[in-house]
Amino acid sequence: MIIQRLQLRNFRNYEKVSVDLDPHMNLITGKNAQGKTNLLESIVYLSLTRSHRISNDRKLIRNGEEFADISCRFEDSGIEKEIEAVIHQKGKTLMVHRQPVRKSSEFIGLLNVVMFSPDDLRLFHDQPKDRRRIMNQEITKISPVYLVSLSRYQALLKERNILLKSDSVNMRILDTLDEQMVTEEKVIIDYRRKFVDSIQKDIGTLYRRISSDQSEISVKYVCCTDDIENDDPLKEMYLMCRQRDMQYRTSTAGIHREDIRFEINGTPVEETASQGQKRMIVLAFKLALMNYIVRETSKCPVLLLDDVLSELDYEKQKRLLDMMSDTYQCLITSTEIPSFLKNQKMKEFQIINGTINPL
Ligand SMILES: Nc1ncnc2c1ncn2[C@@H]1O[C@H](COP(=O)(O)OP(=O)(O)OP(=O)(O)O)[C@@H](O)[C@H]1O
Ligand SMILES: [Mg+2]
Repeated sequence: MIIQRLQLRNFRNYEKVSVDLDPHMNLITGKNAQGKTNLLESIVYLSLTRSHRISNDRKLIRNGEEFADISCRFEDSGIEKEIEAVIHQKGKTLMVHRQPVRKSSEFIGLLNVVMFSPDDLRLFHDQPKDRRRIMNQEITKISPVYLVSLSRYQALLKERNILLKSDSVNMRILDTLDEQMVTEEKVIIDYRRKFVDSIQKDIGTLYRRISSDQSEISVKYVCCTDDIENDDPLKEMYLMCRQRDMQYRTSTAGIHREDIRFEINGTPVEETASQGQKRMIVLAFKLALMNYIVRETSKCPVLLLDDVLSELDYEKQKRLLDMMSDTYQCLITSTEIPSFLKNQKMKEFQIINGTINPL
């Protein structure tokens, strides 16, 4: 996928801008608080219909204005597409080729992007639910089937928890709910297993290429059951937990309790890795994510790297940028232009207080 033109109106600190991007490398520089992250955030919004950093959409509207408008024209497998999101006080309107779509699911993932943000370093220290959110977000972008199963599972889980809180739990209803949940869980586990396997396949090699550190990096899927060949292990899990679930009046096992674990040389990353190592593991994870999306969809996402160069030493900055292949479009923000980049083929932009100027 290649974003050709991005247009913003009243988005964050931008009043009105239009940017024509290079199909490969785009370097966006600017001092602090000028709008670099805001620009990438607008692209993430078009991909996910939400920001990667806040949940209140109204904060995205430029102060004092009524609405924000983000639109972009991009190329997807040789076909030109136009998508637009208008954020207003009461919600949002999503459009494809200027026609409003009824459901977000018809819009999410049309433009597929992978973003690295310095906030991603929290990944290792966050709660399992935050890592599950990332996993769900990435799999949802490539599979509507996963999204359907996940939504059904969440509705069933809600129902099950209400039932467990009731004074006398109807066992027949509980049996039926468990059975329905197992059906959805099998689909979800299958997708999650494939996701983690794909990341695991690449993350170590990518890490070593960026860092030249020979540490072993691995990602492990902490699944609620080890065997999904038939219904029995999941059913058994529910039966085994039943006593506990009744006691705690909530569902204590299932795919809503799963996690992914990152390890360096066999120990949890959060316990041993240095700041620089963590940064490179996250980067390797994001690049592995690009490969996962390509494998699953045969389409190449756009890579957004926000402030990726800071804290990396010169050698690593250079290795990373050398790895940015010609096969995908990349937008990198930085406060300064790295000296070794001066001769490289790329389009440069400078952002000053919400205005974007090609250099
Ligand atoms: N809704 C809004 N209306 C107007 N301005 C806003 C709004 N939301 C954020 N801003 C402004 O956007 C600026 C921050 O932009 P951004 O986060 O993109 O900075 P940046 O260039 O990435 O900086 P840094 O290098 O520090 O990361 C701040 O000046 C902030 O006040
Ligand atoms: Mg920023």
